[in-house]
Amino acid sequence: MAQIKSRKSQPIDSEITVPGDKSISHRAIIFGALSNGTCVVHGLLTGEDCMATVRAMRSLGVRIEQPAPDTMIVHGRRLRFDAPEGDIDCGNSGTSMRLLAGLLSGLPFRSRLVGDASLTRRPMRRIIDPLVQMGARITSENGNGCAPLVIEGGALNPIHYHSPVASAQVKSSILIAGLFAKGKTSVTEPGRSRDHTERMLRYHLVTLQQEGFTTSIYGDQVPESRDFHVPGDISSAAFWLVAAAARPGARLLVKDVGLNDTRTGILGVLVRMGARVREVIEEMDQVESIGSVEVFGTTLKGTVIEGDEIPNVIDELPVLAVAGALAEGTTIIRDARELRVKEADRIAAVATNLCAMGVPVTETDDGMQIQGGARLRGAKLDSFGDHRIAMAFAIAGLFAEGETVIRNTECIATSYPGFEETLESFIRAKAGRETHIPVIHPHSAAPV
Ligand code: S3P
Repeated sequence: MAQIKSRKSQPIDSEITVPGDKSISHRAIIFGALSNGTCVVHGLLTGEDCMATVRAMRSLGVRIEQPAPDTMIVHGRRLRFDAPEGDIDCGNSGTSMRLLAGLLSGLPFRSRLVGDASLTRRPMRRIIDPLVQMGARITSENGNGCAPLVIEGGALNPIHYHSPVASAQVKSSILIAGLFAKGKTSVTEPGRSRDHTERMLRYHLVTLQQEGFTTSIYGDQVPESRDFHVPGDISSAAFWLVAAAARPGARLLVKDVGLNDTRTGILGVLVRMGARVREVIEEMDQVESIGSVEVFGTTLKGTVIEGDEIPNVIDELPVLAVAGALAEGTTIIRDARELRVKEADRIAAVATNLCAMGVPVTETDDGMQIQGGARLRGAKLDSFGDHRIAMAFAIAGLFAEGETVIRNTECIATSYPGFEETLESFIRAKAGRETHIPVIHPHSAAPV
């Protein structure tokens, strides 16, 4: 079983890039496959989650070449795919399973979606209900609303679905199914979730409408094939942004990172906590805003993270909880019940690990209250099989007395190949010397 050892480092003074955005990489593969021609996608994340999507699309007959570690050439199938020969294994990836369920609902054959133990516990009713309303036949094999899911797709009806959760995965699943329906399919969310699907479909010349929190798509549109550049993942940058923000004298510049404003909530939270943050959008011409973020560290102060801000920082909450532990005063996270159904129960996992490091923390139903300012003690921790928990606590270890060991860290490969090398270079860096972190081209997936 893999483990990571973290220990106190000098204040970070560095410039880095991070691997491609996970959400955007999944979509680039899926929309390329739906399109009417060849799409070259650069800067892809080839972590395990996105490779699950690549394998799934290949099992539906899509030709995908990988001429370089982070480049893929996707040969679109104009909305027509082959029936898969076996199960489609989504591994640990909720995004793969939920988005693919939308796609498979529109295809005239039977398929079976499976995943690992964590994914098999995650709620799928949120996509089963709307897709069944559209006319797909979907069975949760164990009758508990979770995977394995058997999908018999075919002709779909357009619906207007009111989602009980603000979830980009739910919205995207329905919008993708909507491509196969005759007429207008709409999704209304209770709040704003990340909008990569809308931006990317528009880039592929698909017509969508947006009114408040309602997004609509017209069926029978074939996305136009176009090449695509995936920006760095702000959710991966988040770990280093917190490592720099919480240390007086530290400075970090993250370059070529996605700055879509449905994803940059973490920057606002760090500013509220007292960090100096400079965000420069350098490119808005294509689909997504891309640029750099520079953070200067300080002694942070506690804050409240709640309400509409939650969907925007949902993946960053574990490392923001660590920031709260390093801050003076109290940090409160509420309205974040969704954290309980991520790759692990992230409320319980964060509370358990912060407690083990000597931080007073109270778990609530929908969040936690963290008493900052305590000295962090190195400890033996578990990742609970969750990549973001593993990485958040590797960051906590950079501030702790003594060694922090995080067990069960294979899961980091799902979203951030190369994380451990970057961590090591920060731990080894000498005081007062700028660290240049090499761009790591992960080879987690063998080129084909
Ligand atoms: C994602 C959306 C978010 C996020 C997940 C990726 C996506 O989940 O937590 O890591 O790519 O659409 P929800 O849409 O369920 O909130």
